Amino acid sequence: MNKFLPTVAVTASILLPFAASAEDRDFRVGLITPPVHVWNQEVDAMGETLGEMSDGRMSVTAFPSGQLGSEGTMLQQLQTGALDMAWLTTAELTLRVPDMSALHAPFLVTNIEDAARVLRSEEAREILDELPAATGSVGLCYAMTGMRQLLTKEPITSAEDLDGLRFRITPAPPIQTFFEMFGAAPAPMPLTQVYDALANGQIDAIDMDHESIINFGYYDHATNMMETNHHLFGMVALVSGRVWAELSAEDKVIVQEAGQKHCDQTIDRFVSEEANKLERLQAIEGISVTEDVGPEFFGDIVERWDAEWSERTPYVERLRALVASF
Ligand code: BEZ
Repeated sequence: MNKFLPTVAVTASILLPFAASAEDRDFRVGLITPPVHVWNQEVDAMGETLGEMSDGRMSVTAFPSGQLGSEGTMLQQLQTGALDMAWLTTAELTLRVPDMSALHAPFLVTNIEDAARVLRSEEAREILDELPAATGSVGLCYAMTGMRQLLTKEPITSAEDLDGLRFRITPAPPIQTFFEMFGAAPAPMPLTQVYDALANGQIDAIDMDHESIINFGYYDHATNMMETNHHLFGMVALVSGRVWAELSAEDKVIVQEAGQKHCDQTIDRFVSEEANKLERLQAIEGISVTEDVGPEFFGDIVERWDAEWSERTPYVERLRALVASF
């Protein structure tokens, strides 16, 4: 009896972790967005899809609102295997994968339907292939959070009014270039800090999408919205490379297909809901929306931005050519 128990314990301690990793998986998924965001809803739905496709072996636990830290921190956690999955902005990934900056080219597209076509293109897909070497994680698919608009505390009537404004931007070099080129003072800051920074006057304006403006209520402190659609704002569903390496070939297919399904649903939802979100914003008392502000408002900024960023990545020209072919 005394001899039997330790044998069972040792056997179990050798076999159980192996059995657990081959059979059951609760994927921890990190996001910077709050539970109300479409991304978070689709991550939860992805958990259900994974459960169905794996006969209940796979599930998801989401960590929303930057609970695990900034997107940069989550990317490091993916690299070490401390985090299994994350839905991160393409903006964050530009810091490791310069080619991804081309997705943030100003006025690459001027409507959300074309943004979806870019994110579903072969060219964009190729950029995902760079992720394992550059970040230690696997990029399953793209989605997005809509097109970006300018929300300011003071009304803007000309490009000169933007001069010197402290503009919150998502930390990313290609976005920073755009704001510097029109004379603003970009203030890179994570999503989780934006509301307070607007409320306490640390910043004068923000670069943001309809979904987040509605979710966070940024119009409490900045009531002037310019409908610029100046860049698309992408997302990549990532899996830790270490976790990916542990999955069987069959489980990799399940994870890939489930991820793709919910990336696609996310894109489709943003495309179909974008106009309605604009209407909801227009209906909010006190908000003033200036529609159809095109690239001409910013002078020759597209040419200048392209000249600088074409030196850093061939995808600027490739994606411009792609969009020209639509
Ligand atoms: C942002 O940094 O502005 C952002 C990040 C994720 C979703 C939406 C917005």
